Amino acid sequence: MLSSFMDKTELFDDTGKSRGFYSSKNRLNDLTGKEWVFWTRSVITKLYPPNMCHKLRSRHGGQKPPELCRDIINIFTKKGATVLDPFMGVGGVLLGAALSGRSATGIEIEPAWIDIYREVCEKEGLPVMETFKGEAGGVLDTLLGRTYDFIFTDVPYFAMDKAPRSKGAYKKTGEAARPAPGTRLRAFNDITYRTKDEWLERMHGVFAGAIGLLRPDGYIAVFIGDMFCGGEYHCLSAELAGKLLTIPGLSWKANIVWYDVSKKLHLYGYQYAYIPSMIHQNIIILKKESRRR
Ligand SMILES: C[S@@+](CC[C@H](N)C(=O)[O-])C[C@H]1O[C@@H](n2cnc3c(N)ncnc32)[C@H](O)[C@@H]1O
Repeated sequence: MLSSFMDKTELFDDTGKSRGFYSSKNRLNDLTGKEWVFWTRSVITKLYPPNMCHKLRSRHGGQKPPELCRDIINIFTKKGATVLDPFMGVGGVLLGAALSGRSATGIEIEPAWIDIYREVCEKEGLPVMETFKGEAGGVLDTLLGRTYDFIFTDVPYFAMDKAPRSKGAYKKTGEAARPAPGTRLRAFNDITYRTKDEWLERMHGVFAGAIGLLRPDGYIAVFIGDMFCGGEYHCLSAELAGKLLTIPGLSWKANIVWYDVSKKLHLYGYQYAYIPSMIHQNIIILKKESRRR
């Protein structure tokens, strides 16, 4: 349903409710002004309840809600655009691309995750996007000559992921003391980068290759959680952004915080030290500038 005023067209959702006015001058996306304002908020508090074969996808451990990925893709692209995810896992971004009418290419080093992604598409009746099995850097070299409108990914982490959650023992009132639980190894973390520096170097290498395939003025969005480890807070979003900004032509546009309501609170540090419970993820937004500023 449409109704037009000058360069503005009122759009309506499937239930007939107004979405606001879309301007034909909008070069970035297909959002109306009202939707644009909503999505410029630096914190995403919208809830994304588990669905789309969540149980199957959660074998991965680092899967992202496809509807959240759809919403992010809708901010940075127009319908029909192409999206590249060099670390696709079980395909949160690829499923989001299908939900938003975009096409996508995913790369994943662990074949089992691609198989799960394909099974989810079949069960949900969604189109299967192009996937490549292999190490991202090597696969990206084979894609030279292509152009993507948006790079959207969720990076792997380094060996810090395997650190124990907490030292010592804890007890609940009326119970015997128990050893603090160790971190459940993330199932996806088969290939770990041993140190933060090694990880940053590898991420730099992969992104440098991927950005060569991004159109000028295209955006890059990267899920990256911060961590508390070895008694210290590691602001990985800032560290990763800093490293990626050494790639010529990139600028940093935003750090969006996604409040992940599915995260459980843990008994970290109770009664002896302040240790945060990480219930958010960052989504850093970078842009490939067409002109040097
Ligand atoms: C954080 S997960 C992505 C999860 C994804 N967003 C989802 O919804 O399932 C990162 C993925 O990158 C993969 N990976 C790690 N190093 C890689 C590399 N060098 N090349 C390609 N994939 C890699 C891991 O196996 C893991 O599945």
